Amino acid sequence: MCGITGYIGHREAYPIIIQGLQRLEYRGYDSAGVVLFDGQEINLSKTKGKVSDLQAKVKHDISTKGTIGFGHTRWATHGVPNHVNSHPHLSQSGNLVIVHNGIIENYDTLKKELISRGYTFHSDTDTEVLINLIEEIKIQEKCKLGKAVQLALQQVIGAYAILVFDKEKPNELVIARLGSPIAIGVGKDNKEFFIASDATPFIEYTKDAIYLEDGELAIIKLDRDIRIRKINDDTLVEDVKTQELQLSLEQIEKGNYEHFMLKEIHEQPSAIIDTYRGRLLANKGIIRMSGLDDNMERFLNANRIIIVACGTSWHAGLVAEYLFEDIARIPVEVEYGSEFRYRNPIITEKDVVIAISQSGETADTLAAVKLAKSKGAFVFGICNVVGSSIAREVHAGAYTHAGPEIGVASTKAFTTQITLLSLLALKLGKAKGNLSVPNYQTYLQELVQIPNKVEQLLKEDEHIKTIAAIYKSVPNFLYLGRGYNFPVALEGALKLKEISYIHAEGYPAAEMKHGPIALIDENMPVVVIATNKGYYEKVVSNIQEIKSRQGQLIAIVTKGDTTVKKIANHTIEVPETLEAFTPLLTTIPLQLLSYHIAVMRGCNVDQPRNLAKAVTVE
Ligand code: M6R
Repeated sequence: MCGITGYIGHREAYPIIIQGLQRLEYRGYDSAGVVLFDGQEINLSKTKGKVSDLQAKVKHDISTKGTIGFGHTRWATHGVPNHVNSHPHLSQSGNLVIVHNGIIENYDTLKKELISRGYTFHSDTDTEVLINLIEEIKIQEKCKLGKAVQLALQQVIGAYAILVFDKEKPNELVIARLGSPIAIGVGKDNKEFFIASDATPFIEYTKDAIYLEDGELAIIKLDRDIRIRKINDDTLVEDVKTQELQLSLEQIEKGNYEHFMLKEIHEQPSAIIDTYRGRLLANKGIIRMSGLDDNMERFLNANRIIIVACGTSWHAGLVAEYLFEDIARIPVEVEYGSEFRYRNPIITEKDVVIAISQSGETADTLAAVKLAKSKGAFVFGICNVVGSSIAREVHAGAYTHAGPEIGVASTKAFTTQITLLSLLALKLGKAKGNLSVPNYQTYLQELVQIPNKVEQLLKEDEHIKTIAAIYKSVPNFLYLGRGYNFPVALEGALKLKEISYIHAEGYPAAEMKHGPIALIDENMPVVVIATNKGYYEKVVSNIQEIKSRQGQLIAIVTKGDTTVKKIANHTIEVPETLEAFTPLLTTIPLQLLSYHIAVMRGCNVDQPRNLAKAVTVE
């Protein structure tokens, strides 16, 4: 978590840094800070709160002059979010300054050692320990900043992306990474460099980016070059790869939408098309995806598929369990990355592990990938962010191509992940002979209809808004679904709780009578997904059980439904589709319902409290 951005060049650095921090705020917004070097002095300002609070404070605090500087937006790990714990952090002498994304696990041991050498600390952070360790090494070893950073990092256990400046070497910045991302935007003729946790802060300045690999340190010298070294063995990285960025400015702006989340909900028809574009040739009956095609044997010979993911991506994994078992008849297990990595799982070379992650940076999912690889499993990644850590760590994979998702609540990531997983299941189902040709064709023809159907559903917005207005003040919600729509119930509940702070639970509808039914009274809204496929009659019985206990029923039904309409307080219709694709439709009204409730409650939809977009700490 946390966002880092910096600049070294010939322009005024402050506006570039502030704009960069605004774009990185999705990574954390507990506090923000900036540091600038005006040629003489280090000018530093920081505050609890958002980048807008920082801007207000900077006006009173410091001169914004300088062509070198950097900033930080924080998601707190060590120490409460307050002024002193905010980044940047100065070393004891005041000559070195650092921003950090990650966690130094052995900070306490290092801190005690530094205290014994006369260092005093002002904050509770692990980062202040690191900058003083760098300073101490620089003094003891009489070495330059780059070397001191390298030696310090050799003592560090944990994860980091760091950016360090030394007043004595004002024309250079040192960055390093292990487990947390950091990229360099390379300006024309090396006249300027941009540094950031992802490429969004520098997209309008350069399309050339270098992504540092884990265990690498870069020394960036103004008007000269970038030298990248391995932290552990000091080897110089010779073949530094510059990537051309595909990102556009429009993709990372809100446009006419009030919030990124709403924009991203509305982008789903085109995002789903972008996911299957070039991969699904429905009329020819072809699905092609190089990551799968090149490794077909591994999938076809797999004893089972293990899916690892967190949050919304885990819910997409649950939908995939239904897809793979139903369509391809391959046994599937779905695991939280965080549980999988620590429970000594039995993994063999005959297993295929699929890691799902929008950001490609989720620490627990990444650790699960590394563990699976170490046990010999074949690991396939489904990520949205191109070049992300998980995408680079897996043996093969496929991008969802959903475009940047900036709202902290995942929306288009979910539907595009399901689209991609559907393609995998269909291709494997056909290859395994479990899917007849006509059935396979029916699936393909229907999948290309989904974007239109999502488009139709988005027109239900006003209707959903009226329902949101009725329930905006309730303290609890229950979400029920069965089969393919059980994970959608979980996802609906997660969306509501994370952005509106209303307690919500998702349950398989039939499980309700094993406990949660006790919660139902006239004050409890229950969202039930009751499309006409699968277990329709069974779900109708569950709905009756709720009705007879005076629960307030909001039902997601198939267009033309008459049965549930008579029972439920409110219905939202979704277009008819194949059962396997219902999650792609039923999830849309639940996203809109959460969105409107959160807006009506005055919540910060794009930046819900305590959360960050990419959870790069375990
Ligand atoms: O980037 P990832 O898909 O790996 O992220 C996983 C979760 O952190 C994420 O889905 C989170 O649950 C979202 N805030 C849900 O909306």
